[in-house]
Amino acid sequence: MSGDCWVAVVGTGPAGPEWLTPETADILERATDLVGYGPYLDRVAAGHQRRHASDNRQELDRAGHALDLAAEGSRVAVVSGGDPGVFAMGAAVLEALDRDTEGRWRNVAVTVHPGVSAMQAAAARLGAPLGADFCALSLSDNLKPWAVVERRVRLAAEADLVMALYNPASRARPWQLGRVLAVIAEVHPPETPVIFATAAGREQEHLTVTTLGEADPARADMRTLVIVGMPGTRVLEREQGTLVYTPRYYEGA
Ligand SMILES: C[S@@+](CC[C@H](N)C(=O)[O-])C[C@H]1O[C@@H](n2cnc3c(N)ncnc32)[C@H](O)[C@@H]1O
Repeated sequence: MSGDCWVAVVGTGPAGPEWLTPETADILERATDLVGYGPYLDRVAAGHQRRHASDNRQELDRAGHALDLAAEGSRVAVVSGGDPGVFAMGAAVLEALDRDTEGRWRNVAVTVHPGVSAMQAAAARLGAPLGADFCALSLSDNLKPWAVVERRVRLAAEADLVMALYNPASRARPWQLGRVLAVIAEVHPPETPVIFATAAGREQEHLTVTTLGEADPARADMRTLVIVGMPGTRVLEREQGTLVYTPRYYEGA
């Protein structure tokens, strides 16, 4: 990344500074302005940069604000949690650019930089449940119809994909995870492993390994990533703790 006016879209990782990549730390250091949801900005050390905190909903407005700042000569880091390309600001910044028919931001260099996503942190805490083919789905129906969520979940189960489920529940969306688990249970046997990883990597981290038949959707909140295995996903009970993995070979290979 070079030049004097840029927007770099970065991610903090799922928790504290130990999850920040050195590349992202360097970009934050060189930025003059930080744009993002307040709690994500709080995760990166308060330094010399101007902070532009906003709420978590107006993604396109926030992206436009970041691009405006850069067009005026600033070096702007747009800060997401986790990886900025996974259900986060990466797509919003590119969508804002895509809509810029007047070329207001044509001189602004825009780059996206990887971060550690919640599914990677949650999976690694318990072994390698995403060891074979998997997909990541957001259960939020704020930006897509619920029928689409259900259809994708059903097809993913039928395709034997392990699923990393983001945004499984919130106060405004209390029933969706229960419905999703019921859809998967129509396809997979009740002993299929399910993981609830809440606040992975943080002080309040809580990990539960259960089964599709026993999974209690009430365990999930906004800080939870749910991983639903496929029938080949294995659980190893060891003296040192539980490990979960999905073998890379598929029956019949
Ligand atoms: C809007 S999405 C952002 C995802 C983020 N860009 C990423 O790559 O992890 C927010 C959702 O990510 C998941 N999440 C974020 N941090 C987490 C953590 N530390 N532990 C478990 N899940 C987390 C939760 O499902 C949460 O509802």
